[in-house]
Amino acid sequence: MGGLKVLMLAAEAAPLVKVGGLGDVVGALPVALRRMGMDVRVMLPDNGLRVADEYKVRRLDAGVLAWGGRSERVTVRCLKVNGCLHYLVGGRPIAHDGKVYGADMVGDAPKFVFFALAAMRVAERLLFQPDVLHVHDAHPGAALYWLGTVGRHHRFWQGTAGVLTIHNLAYQFNGAADALKDGGLEPGVDVRIPAYARSGLLALGIANADYVNTVSPTYAREIRMAVQGAGLQKLLRAQRTRVSGILNGLDGSVWNPARDAVIAAEFDVRRLARRKLNSSALRTELRLPAAAGPLFALVARLDWQKGLDLVVGVAPQLHALGAQLVVLGSGSRDIGKQLQALARAHPGSVAVRLGFDEALARRIYAGADVVLVPSRYEPCGLTQLIGMRYGAIPLVRCTGGLADTVLDVASNARGTGFVFGKYTVPALARAVRRACKLFGTPLAWRAVQVRAMQADFSWKPAAKQYAELYANAVRARRRGNAA
Ligand code: ADP
Ligand code: GLC
Repeated sequence: MGGLKVLMLAAEAAPLVKVGGLGDVVGALPVALRRMGMDVRVMLPDNGLRVADEYKVRRLDAGVLAWGGRSERVTVRCLKVNGCLHYLVGGRPIAHDGKVYGADMVGDAPKFVFFALAAMRVAERLLFQPDVLHVHDAHPGAALYWLGTVGRHHRFWQGTAGVLTIHNLAYQFNGAADALKDGGLEPGVDVRIPAYARSGLLALGIANADYVNTVSPTYAREIRMAVQGAGLQKLLRAQRTRVSGILNGLDGSVWNPARDAVIAAEFDVRRLARRKLNSSALRTELRLPAAAGPLFALVARLDWQKGLDLVVGVAPQLHALGAQLVVLGSGSRDIGKQLQALARAHPGSVAVRLGFDEALARRIYAGADVVLVPSRYEPCGLTQLIGMRYGAIPLVRCTGGLADTVLDVASNARGTGFVFGKYTVPALARAVRRACKLFGTPLAWRAVQVRAMQADFSWKPAAKQYAELYANAVRARRRGNAA
């Protein structure tokens, strides 16, 4: 697969843009693929985001895109991140407000459809003819729709295979018909897609990709079922052989407690005792008193997905067990308010910080004892992986990628955490009690910590599987073109 040319389109890529795990993944995967000899370029929407001074930015002329009966100028800022070329693609329909996602499709549909179609023009302009167009999630889905329809008659793009990675099936970006029309695309008519999603960016992406994957094997199975399929299960089942699960990795150079400038004391498995310094510094920072019980932590987008109602429900029991809780999150205002009320009700045992704060997140992973991930569903989940790497034991619900990454200490001698099944407060409370009990036996706790820290979640195996996926997609495209 060396020499393969891959164009990745996404709404986020760390360290430039990050709202959640999508940013982590699109930050790390291109680097891992480049190590395998591929030429990977990443394109992101340019919403006017500030680029740190350490990057050398070049502006490129990218011409115009036909849009809504007129010509819109396409702007490009080009920079190298971790050795990989990134292009920030902008234009009038992409507001310069620094916002990655807006409140609704009124602004987001034109923004992402324009981005997706402009990105294709930029690639042509650069004479970067990719073997694979790799789209992440719904946002750039119009690029796959264009490739699968208009692009098939376009010499430059005829040989390009389309791959879609679903990071979250719930964000479908439906109702983009007007924006698609502005970009010269007719809204979809694919009968495998439910009527409400026919002009949805995710559904069109899935229907037009040569291969589709999601970010864990369990989530790949779950989304073929009605409960998790979010209405697209029929379409996904129709593509069955072409929908696989590739478990995300974790970039060990980005997430490394032995080299993390923002934590109080760097540590590793051999210097695990130093971790205590992080715990006490964190408690001081959060104004939580010293305590004999464990400190539970949750770092997440405040979203229905993340199971925060269970956390609110279990808080009195945490308190009764002498445990403490910190939540760091940004997103839904309502959930934020409920959490703030919880902190007021339990001063000294619950701390809540609202907002996106990368440094605080790191100090939490380094100082908390347990990372909670009680999600309703979780395509992969990265906070349990980061927690493990930083010696915070994960307590997760058995769903999606959580089920694929955490082994329960009760059922497995090589266990790395605590897993509960039912989405109920009592089920979570039972797991919390087990965690508190084990925390009371320091030697046993330490053994789990060491196993968790040594668990291998490097990107290498995932990169290999993506290479295979690309090879399959390229073969399928060749067959498709020959037919
Ligand atoms: P999702 O992608 O669904 O948001 P993941 O677990 O895959 O969930 O990834 C979340 C990523 O975002 C992790 O890197 C986590 O540390 C980070 N994160 C989430 N919320 C915040 C926040 N409020 N401040 C800082 N980092 C956050
Ligand atoms: C999504 C999912 C999360 C996953 C991340 C990166 O946002 O919610 O489970 O880890 O994407 O793939």
